[in-house]
Amino acid sequence: MEVTGEKNTLICPVAFTPSDSIESVKDSPSIAMAAQVIKKGGLVAFPTETVYGLGANGLDADAVAGIFTAKGRPSDNPLILHIASPEDIHKIVTHVPRQAAHLASVFWPGPLTLVLPKADCVPEITTGGLDTVAVRMPSHPVALALIRACGVPLAAPSANSSGRPSPTEAAHVITDLMGKIDVILDGGSTGIGVESTVLDCTKARPVILRPGGVSQEALEKALGESVVISHHVVTTDGSVESLVSSPGIKYQHYAPKAPALLVKGGPPELFQELTRLALEWQEQGEIVGIVASTELGQYWQNEGIDTGKWQIAHMGSRHDLLEVAGNIYRCLRQLDETDATKILLESVSSKGLGLAIMNRLSKAAGHRIIGE
Ligand code: TXA
Ligand code: MG
Repeated sequence: MEVTGEKNTLICPVAFTPSDSIESVKDSPSIAMAAQVIKKGGLVAFPTETVYGLGANGLDADAVAGIFTAKGRPSDNPLILHIASPEDIHKIVTHVPRQAAHLASVFWPGPLTLVLPKADCVPEITTGGLDTVAVRMPSHPVALALIRACGVPLAAPSANSSGRPSPTEAAHVITDLMGKIDVILDGGSTGIGVESTVLDCTKARPVILRPGGVSQEALEKALGESVVISHHVVTTDGSVESLVSSPGIKYQHYAPKAPALLVKGGPPELFQELTRLALEWQEQGEIVGIVASTELGQYWQNEGIDTGKWQIAHMGSRHDLLEVAGNIYRCLRQLDETDATKILLESVSSKGLGLAIMNRLSKAAGHRIIGE
């Protein structure tokens, strides 16, 4: 078989501790080498505090085109530009409204992406032809040091193949993009585990296009007013679901290979329903995969349920949404490594970080959802 365009992907560990400032990693030879690759139009995967990103010079149309090719990403799905200091925003947008400036001062560096009117220097390919651009300043020291060493904003989507769960470890990037990109900076597991909140700041009032690492409640507290979610529906249990929003939203995302079903509700009914479905599917000859909380595992133990035939991925305590967020993409990828033919996803609360988790879980399930 002829392999065309295969790249020799370099995997470079970068040592840091989460409390490290950018100063402690900026002299890393791996970062200097990766910055050279970016400056020459290459592709570098790097850790952020949310998920791994696949970076290229966001102002170089040819380099950005490489991102779309490597990921197999539809060209109308725009990218986020990552900057290393808040004032750099003025180089890539034409106007920063007062509320957006305030939110940047509160949440940057961190998992908040602001959508603003784009400056002419930002190529159309970066924004999928839109006249707005998404901007974020990440807090991860490796991300900050890399952007600073490059001296340009980095266009960086999550470093997964399009449609697959986002990568929270370098190993996930290797699985999806080995041979397709130039460098992978391995900074270990990312912290938050779900992507940034994407906030449209071009309207009179900010609108959440994608729930993420900064919660709706935190945004509302910072602004002193309510923040709406784009095209949302309020379900019978009062939880809010974002259906359509950013261009990216219409594409299937985060999908494990086997079909998945998201089961909503609260314990003990939730645990009973998940167990009933798993036993029913098993009876039908399916190999059942389950993304389950510690509490569900405890329930099975207490009830004496035989889980021996199930493939179980552990998402942590359902009462600790930070832990669940950090585990959720790994769980989906873990089940892909098994021979599971059908997958059950346990729901969590939609409050705080839970809104982002539930958003990703319902997409992983292709919006196949049962329960209240
Ligand atoms: O945490 C994150 O945001 C990660 C890390 C690497 O920073 N990045 C990330 O990028 O998740 P990506 O490309 O996987 O998701 C970006 C989302 C997509 O849903 C895209 O449609 C939306 O942001 N987006 C980007 N530019 C936009 C724009 N100008 N208007 C509306 N939505 C936009
Ligand atoms: Mg993505």
